[in-house]
Amino acid sequence: MAVLKILRYPDPRLHQVAAPVEVFDDRLRALVRDMAETMYAAPGVGLAATQVDVHQRVVVIDVSDTKDRLQVFVNPRVVSASDARKVYEEGCLSVPGIYEEVERPEQVRVEAFDEHGEPFSIDADELLAVCIQHEIDHLDGKVFVQYLSRLKQSRIRSRLLKSEREAA
Ligand code: NI
Repeated sequence: MAVLKILRYPDPRLHQVAAPVEVFDDRLRALVRDMAETMYAAPGVGLAATQVDVHQRVVVIDVSDTKDRLQVFVNPRVVSASDARKVYEEGCLSVPGIYEEVERPEQVRVEAFDEHGEPFSIDADELLAVCIQHEIDHLDGKVFVQYLSRLKQSRIRSRLLKSEREAA
């Protein structure tokens, strides 16, 4: 197991579109374990493989208070979404220190596979619905700040580049 390095916005690799997983092997399961360890260490409630520079459609989520309810989504797809939308203040491990309101469908049905290749579907609401949509965006190369105005995006970009320079 290993804690992986998380890419930070505006790293261009965050905008790469991830490829579907075709083989459900030990390598995939090792990636899932490392991603879970990385998410828990951060700590965060969700992580997409894109964020650790692996461009495959793999997401880990744990929205529980007890941090013992790991959910693994391989090749996740939103198959239906509610008309009702909700605004939620989102953050992201790739955009540290930034929290901004984003509006998304309140409920979504997601189909995915687990790390053994078993298909499942889930009706998500509340934080899980926000999280799964946020993570699927990562797999499509989209970071949540892209929902904000261009002015806000450029402010966030310069703020993060500045803090990176100061940390270096
Ligand atoms: Ni994120």
